[in-house]
Amino acid sequence: MCGIIGYIGDKNPVDVLIKGLKNLEYRGYDSAGIALKNEEEIQIIKSVGKISDLEEKIKNTNIISSHMGIAHTRWATHGKPNEINAHPHKVGKITLVHNGIIENAEELKRELQEKGIVFQSDTDTEVAAALIHFYYQGNMKEAIEKASKVLKGSYALGIICDDESDTLYAIRKESPLIIGVGENEHFITSDIGAILNETKKYVLLGKDEVVVLKKDEFHVYQGENEIHREILESSASEEEISKHGYEHYMMKEMMEEPVLINQMIEKYQNHMESLPDIKKYKTIHIVGCGSAYYAGMIGKNFFEEEGIKVEVEIASEYRYRNVIYDENTLVILISQSGETADTIAAMRKANENHQDTLAIVNVESSTIARECTYQVLIEANKEIAVATTKAYLLQVFVLSLLSMRGKQDEKYLEDLHQLPQQLKVLLDKTGYYKRIADQLCNQEHVFFIGRKNDYAMSLEGSLKLKEISYIHSEAYPAGELKHGTISLIEEGTIVFAIVTDDTIQDKTISNLEEVISRGAKPIYIGCNASSYEEQFIVPKVHSRLQPILVVPALQMIAYFTAQKRGCNIDQPKNLAKSVTVE
Ligand code: F6R
Repeated sequence: MCGIIGYIGDKNPVDVLIKGLKNLEYRGYDSAGIALKNEEEIQIIKSVGKISDLEEKIKNTNIISSHMGIAHTRWATHGKPNEINAHPHKVGKITLVHNGIIENAEELKRELQEKGIVFQSDTDTEVAAALIHFYYQGNMKEAIEKASKVLKGSYALGIICDDESDTLYAIRKESPLIIGVGENEHFITSDIGAILNETKKYVLLGKDEVVVLKKDEFHVYQGENEIHREILESSASEEEISKHGYEHYMMKEMMEEPVLINQMIEKYQNHMESLPDIKKYKTIHIVGCGSAYYAGMIGKNFFEEEGIKVEVEIASEYRYRNVIYDENTLVILISQSGETADTIAAMRKANENHQDTLAIVNVESSTIARECTYQVLIEANKEIAVATTKAYLLQVFVLSLLSMRGKQDEKYLEDLHQLPQQLKVLLDKTGYYKRIADQLCNQEHVFFIGRKNDYAMSLEGSLKLKEISYIHSEAYPAGELKHGTISLIEEGTIVFAIVTDDTIQDKTISNLEEVISRGAKPIYIGCNASSYEEQFIVPKVHSRLQPILVVPALQMIAYFTAQKRGCNIDQPKNLAKSVTVE
């Protein structure tokens, strides 16, 4: 959560920082702020709302001339989204921006208050600033190191000191932070996307590393020791982070799905053996959060059909459970960002228990990609819309490929070839999605039902709808509805039935009839034509590919419903793209 960026160099830092913040806005967007520093003074400007609100405020302010600054876009964790709580925070000579959570902030705040420090905000960030201020006696690096020994939690900080107008400091503990390297200029940022307009060269930072950044040099320290960190080059292009003419990133990202699936097919269809062999494990645990967890539920069904014992679990539960590992267990961590705090904790638990871990991730340089035994990249390129679409689909696709490794299945290979084209046709049926959106947009409650993978897909369709359109929606295993929830069905309640699995199709249809007889209005999504008035027929393909031709339709329905309701599609309220706090 939250995005941070810092700059030191010859350019106008305001331009660099604002541009960077706009690229980071997907990480949090309830307030933002900037701090600029020159030889004489430090100037802090903050605003509630979007980066454009901050930009407007800056335009109407007399800005100091400077060559360094730090900036932040916030997703509130401690304290309301208001100007006082917005970053940067300044205590004494220390001004900083923060990404993450200081877990012992309350305790530290009390101790520092007893020492006479007065706090303005409700944030944990101000406590970090106060602590560094408390330890500062002329040597910033020393003060940061002392503070980091006391601060608990996951955080990354970008820091400026009143006494120095040519040096920017940073520290990374768990939360993502990298250095950007330019010609006579340096950056810090929580996401390389924020600086790709400026440079493609970057340096990864490890846990607990302190950075001293000047215009023409940078130093990375682990405790007393300076360490060498290699300069890497990103292959991501600026184009990847633009909208390609679509109104929203979400639409652009859904439209990329056929090309991305095609790329994966080309990469793996004749090289399945380059994927890890999951069949050598007796037990598999699949762990993720939100949509990644729902992708994992589909993976569970795929792998169980291969005779492997599979458990799938939400990372925030898995990390605290007394998990029993067999002597031969593989733990698969699914995460678009590779930085989700709970999924990282689940991975570390498995690593500490000496289990093999496999990352199914999008971001190659992410913590999960780096710390797992094996990695399979989903290669979805940058996903900016907060609601995942293409990354989810590629996660499911990778799970499908993993389940098919080592099998000779002509039908699967045949269907693979058709898949991108069929997906393209499916996405183009916008007339249908808009018609469904017209019916959904005034509903208060919507239900999705299905069995097995149809249920897992229902969960994803329902999440997508509620998260971007704010319509309350729930997904149920079709057979479960009558054990309580059916009492919510009223005249006209829309119930989606996902019916693609021939083996249990009749059962789901019976359950659909049960709700219809209580007044529900059915929307049938299946492979076989039905007698329902509102039906959407998807091509029947190999069962391990079927979700690829169902979930994008549900994504589209959610998109057009949210659009009709005038919602902020790319940045739904209260959410952030990368959940780097517990
Ligand atoms: C929903 C959504 C979230 C993420 C979840 C995990 O549209 O995007 O549910 O799937 O926060 O994020 P990653 O995959 O980055 O670990």
